Amino acid sequence: MPKRSALAIVVLAAGKGERMRSELPKVLIDLLGAPMIDWVLDAATDLSPERIVVVVGHGAKAVKERLAGRPVRFALQAEQLGTGHAVLCARRALAGFTGTVLVLYGDVPLVRTETLRDFLANHRRRRAAASLLFAEAPDPRGYGRILREEETGRFVGIREERDASPAQRRIREISTGILAVEAKELWSALRGIGRENAQGEYYLTDLPALLLEGGRRVEVSGADFAEVRGVNSPADLAAALSVARERVVAGHLASGVRVLDASSTWIDRDVTIGPGTVIHPFTVIRGGTRIGRDCEIGPFATLRGGAEIGDEACIGNFVEVKKSVLGRGAKAKHLAYLGDATVGEGTNVGCGTITANYDGKRKHRTIIGREVHVGSGTIFVAPVTVGDHAVTGAGAVVLRGRDVGRGETVAGVPARPVRRER
Ligand code: UD1
Ligand code: CA
Repeated sequence: MPKRSALAIVVLAAGKGERMRSELPKVLIDLLGAPMIDWVLDAATDLSPERIVVVVGHGAKAVKERLAGRPVRFALQAEQLGTGHAVLCARRALAGFTGTVLVLYGDVPLVRTETLRDFLANHRRRRAAASLLFAEAPDPRGYGRILREEETGRFVGIREERDASPAQRRIREISTGILAVEAKELWSALRGIGRENAQGEYYLTDLPALLLEGGRRVEVSGADFAEVRGVNSPADLAAALSVARERVVAGHLASGVRVLDASSTWIDRDVTIGPGTVIHPFTVIRGGTRIGRDCEIGPFATLRGGAEIGDEACIGNFVEVKKSVLGRGAKAKHLAYLGDATVGEGTNVGCGTITANYDGKRKHRTIIGREVHVGSGTIFVAPVTVGDHAVTGAGAVVLRGRDVGRGETVAGVPARPVRRER
């Protein structure tokens, strides 16, 4: 007897995404620091399925490369003949599987694991042959509409917008595309799907009606539209980004980070921030950044490329930090660029400081020690190393390879040691 709880997940990711007008396969479009498909696969993985099959087609090579290392199988849909056909392409990868197949769409990235878990629990509790996740959309344009029997309100099927009558187009209940189907019903029902529709495609959305006609039980469950919206156009992407941003910021607020203005703050996913840190408005923190506790960040700061900011550090206005490590209590309070740099504990980086990391061909590092006093407007031409407790004068240009010794003071253009009066 197959376990009723056995789960396999098929993620549809073969489409081109014409409406996005991008060369990149749509599912690889970035959503807050990770391609859309990563969001879907993270939610899928959290459900601990027996298998995950990703159906690839357009840009298959790029999608597979991006997902290398994930425990997923790939199925190729060489020609994009529609979502029903895409699921059929996963048949071989699902050979021998007898439980519930959950179909997710690679361009519906924000669906949460808990929502899917509830959906699957309902599906099993109702002993349905198939269950569909639907939502009420404020603007249903572009989505398949949920058709119900007038009298009873019973679900009878899905109608794609292009095939819908004007009255059907006014329906605001939409299909999210997310579907749970018992494997034993799936393959024969899929073969029943035709392509007599406006797009000449095999629509997966015809599957529920076909099962109902065959006397099978099909159930629907509702979800919050914000987490099941599809990303088909730049406008959809912007809407999805705002939902994703809110979700990420909410996570940081809950862990004690003081994001003062969520609406103007951009924090990618995969950023860690310690409690007590204050994030001022108009700050952009890109993926991979790590910030310690009790820091002050912003306003108008940009942190990216895996910046690492130590506890109690301060990154002030119009400071960009890229691929740099700042020690505990280090400060760069105004107008600076720190790229490919290491800045030691307690060092003060003066206003207008620049690490000139790029020589036109390659990037080089600037290593600045602890308790250094970097004078306003200093330019470090990398690669260069500055010892602990050193001082640079305002406007100093420290040339490549002209390392500054521990406790040394340099000034001028190019910077030279300044003799200390004793
Ligand atoms: C689809 C649904 C629609 C639903 C909406 C929810 C169909 C026919 N329509 O419409 O009812 O309201 O999603 O967001 O299913 N794909 C393939 N192979 C194909 C075609 C598509 O893998 O041959 C993949 C795409 O990469 C995408 C997903 O399936 O991830 C959905 O395809 P898309 O063309 O975006 O369908 P919609 O028009 O959004
Ligand atoms: Ca879509």
